[in-house]
Parts: sequence; structure tokens; C-alpha cells
Amino acid sequence: SKGNHRHFMLKEIYEQPIVVAQTLRSYLQRLEERVTLPVPDDFDLAAIRRVTIVACGTSFYAGMVAKYWFEQFARVPVDLDVASEFRYRAPVMEEAGLMIVISQSGETADTLAALRHAKAEGQKIAAVVNVPTSTMAREADLLLPTHAGPEIGVASTKAFTCQLAVLAALAANFARARGRLSPDEEREIVTHLAEAPAALNAALSYDEAIAAMAPAVAGARDVLYLGRGTDYPLALEGALKLKEISYIHAEGYAAGEMKHGPIALIDEAVPVIVIAPSGPLFEKTVSNMQEVQARGGKVVLISDAQGIAAAGKGCLATIEMPEAHPLIAPLVYAVPVQLLAYHVAVAKGTDVDQPRNLAKSVTVE
Ligand code: F6R
Repeated sequence: SKGNHRHFMLKEIYEQPIVVAQTLRSYLQRLEERVTLPVPDDFDLAAIRRVTIVACGTSFYAGMVAKYWFEQFARVPVDLDVASEFRYRAPVMEEAGLMIVISQSGETADTLAALRHAKAEGQKIAAVVNVPTSTMAREADLLLPTHAGPEIGVASTKAFTCQLAVLAALAANFARARGRLSPDEEREIVTHLAEAPAALNAALSYDEAIAAMAPAVAGARDVLYLGRGTDYPLALEGALKLKEISYIHAEGYAAGEMKHGPIALIDEAVPVIVIAPSGPLFEKTVSNMQEVQARGGKVVLISDAQGIAAAGKGCLATIEMPEAHPLIAPLVYAVPVQLLAYHVAVAKGTDVDQPRNLAKSVTVE
């Protein structure tokens, strides 16, 4: 049931602190300060030489965040593809390769076909899947379950943050297996991941503020989302959520790509949502944001208190997030993009849980 919530989507957004904690519990050994995956004996992470991540939609964006983590922490080369492209591009699959499929349902036809193709080519298969009885869960060599519980709203929310939690744990485990993580660094990762549920709770406390500014976006015909680094996939996810449930045309761009074309779209009628936590990439993204403002663009800045103090002036609105370590920032910043899409859709009166033309599980290719 929806409980006290008006829609399943909102209920599932609010479940995130609990289900992320639930998911992390099976991967973090808090007392030993270690990350432990359910890895079978014959599965040697240290022997993996290349990773291929394949998924669709929101699950693909979780994979995109994971690519940054795998490269940064484990220094392992990562290929990333949407499943429908992977299958038809003659991918080169080297020996000792690992394919990671990511899927809420575990039944998405394109992702499943990619899994089978890679398996036939001798790749090891890891599956980050929410439905434990699904086909992908059964066919994988290494099952890494998310414990989000049933997701009813067609727009994926809690499955995404749980996928990120599992992928962060996998990145840490990979890094350790490859000799790239000292016990101190591992302790630090475990500590920060364990902070995620509280940080998600803090992010949810801005719900009313986001609802209050949603009407400023609801009247737009087009909306752009910008981000850099792991905030780039979040920009893509924000745009996907908005177009799915509010039917407003939205696109996500890497902040630095704006000046290579999309900036031509900017005028006062196009809200630009900028996702920019303070940190090493902040200044760069803010300078892209100022290019937008210089052309009359209306910016909604999603950042922390420090970022908003530094760059919030002149914005149409700001959405303040709690301070978050860069490792958990993608989980935290998922919340405001989900809530913004939700409240814009409610303001427009669309069917939030059952958007037109969409199905929860896409079992056709
Ligand atoms: C977006 C959404 C879809 C799914 C995609 C993959 O809100 O729900 O984009 O993420 O169809 O589905 P799974 O994860 O079940 O493979």
C-alpha cells in the first residue's frame, strides 16, 4: 500500500534511507570495518582485467556512476554501454573480463540478451538485481542483490540508490582485491558508506522546499540538467525522471559540453538545473553555470550550504543538500532530482505512478 503517501513513487523515495541501510548491511562488515561481497570460491576478483557494465535507463545511469568509482578506486578499465547498443556493436571481449549487468527487474530483454551474449563469449557475469528470483539473478555467476523491496512506481527511485550502494561496495572490494586499498582507506570507505542512510534522511527534509519551487519549473516546455563527474549521470537521471512523469522535455548534459551546442537553447524560458556539490569540480561547473546566466538562463542550483553561499546569488532557486562525502554524494543528490520531478508532475496533474506509454518491466527488445 501507499501508506500515508499520495503516490507509490513518493513512498519509495521516502523509503530510501531504510532500504539503502538494508542493502548496505549485507555488504559492510561494520565491526571489522571491511566490505564483503558474497563471492563464490571460484570467483577471483583480482584476476579480472576489464569490466563491461551494461544496463538500460536509470540502471544504466547507476552504472555510469560506478564507472567513475571503479576507475578511481580499483584502477580497472571499464566499458559502459546501454544494453541495446552493446549487443549490436561487435564488442571486443577479452579474456578475464567481467560483465556487470544492473537491473531492478532482472528481466529487461536487452540487458538479459547482453548477459547471455557475454556469457557465451566467456565473460564472468555479475548481476546487481533487485528481484532475487529473476532470470538475470539466476543466470549470473555472482549475484549482488539490492534490497530495495518491491518497486511499484514505474519511475525507478529506491532501486537506483540501492544499486549505487552495491556498486560502491563492489568498487571497494575490487580495489582491495587489486591491492589498491589500504586497511585505513577501506575503513574510511566503510565509514562514509555507513553515513549514507542518515544523509538520505537529511536530503529528504528539503521535500517541502522543493515542492514550493516546483511550480517555477512546471510551466517550462524544456528543462536542462547539468553536472560534471559523477553529477553528470545524475543530470541524465534528473532529466529522465522529469520527462517520464511530467512529460516536459528535458536533457542532461555534461556541464562542460554546454558551450559545444546546447547553450544555443538557453533563454529565460528554459530552466537549467545545475547539480554541483562543493568540492574539486565545483568551480568548473559554476563557471559553466555562469555562462548560462550570462545568456539570461534561469538556474536552479542544487548544492550544499557552502556551494550555495558561493554561487547561489542570481539563481532562480537553490536547493540545499547536506554536506556529503564525494562517495555518497550521488546517493544524496538523487533525492532532490527525484523530488523535483515528482512535485513538477504533481503540479501538472499527470499520472505519477503510471506514466503514459511506459511499462515497469521492458521484456521486449
Ligand atoms: C526509469 C526507469 C527505466 C528503467 C529501465 C531498466 O525511471 O524505470 O528507465 O530503469 O527500463 O529497467 P531495469 O532496471 O528493470 O532493467
